[in-house]
Amino acid sequence: MKLGVNIDHVATLRQQRGTVYPAPLEAAALCEKGGADGITIHLREDRRHIQDADLFALRKALRVPLNLEMANSPQIVQIALRARPAEVCLVPERRQELTTEGGLDAAGQFRRLKPTIAKLQAAGIVVSLFIEPDPRQLEAAVALGAPVVELHTGKYCDETGAARRAELKRLVAAAKLGHRLGLQVNAGHGLNYDNLPAFLRAVPHLHTLNIGHSIVARAVMVGMTRAVREMKALLKP
Ligand code: PXP
Repeated sequence: MKLGVNIDHVATLRQQRGTVYPAPLEAAALCEKGGADGITIHLREDRRHIQDADLFALRKALRVPLNLEMANSPQIVQIALRARPAEVCLVPERRQELTTEGGLDAAGQFRRLKPTIAKLQAAGIVVSLFIEPDPRQLEAAVALGAPVVELHTGKYCDETGAARRAELKRLVAAAKLGHRLGLQVNAGHGLNYDNLPAFLRAVPHLHTLNIGHSIVARAVMVGMTRAVREMKALLKP
């Protein structure tokens, strides 16, 4: 199983202060060193974290494939066609949301998605759809000609007890159906070091997991001692 590391929140930290650090490009190189099989970024319409320049710099420098998450908006589609990442994952986007809430309504937005998917595919980009673990959405992905789906794991991660078990069942059924329909099944959102093992034990046929926030948060912790030591060393006469 492959790991795509989402580095959006490295850029969040940078944008918070308007500094040039921490640089997503540098973080991506460290992710590659750690074994990341791919790098994922979300170029949001409000540019709250990743900027256009990050996208083009990463596209040039990465050794592993770049997966660009994006909304189906004409302006962002044009940028994707210029940048030509290996993969685009189409996601729903609302400006007020804290993070991507809910999956793409591939079934309901069929007519709007069809031309975008065709344009991206004509540019040699593999198209993935970020969807809820719902048979209707999987069937819509097939009808739209998208070869890859990413199952939204947010609800599984947020819920507890019976609700979490029920969501895990939906994810298992969706992964099985996706596999049967010939789709590549990816998953992501909210996965962390605690909730991942049970997810992995239950859900079959997974190709790639895209994980971001928990890895960036962990990196802050495992890097803190060294960061403080380096600053202390500067204080020495
Ligand atoms: N996959 C998709 C489609 C996403 O939108 C996100 C969040 O940007 C992720 C995966 C990663 O989620 P998290 O940061 O919670 O690991």
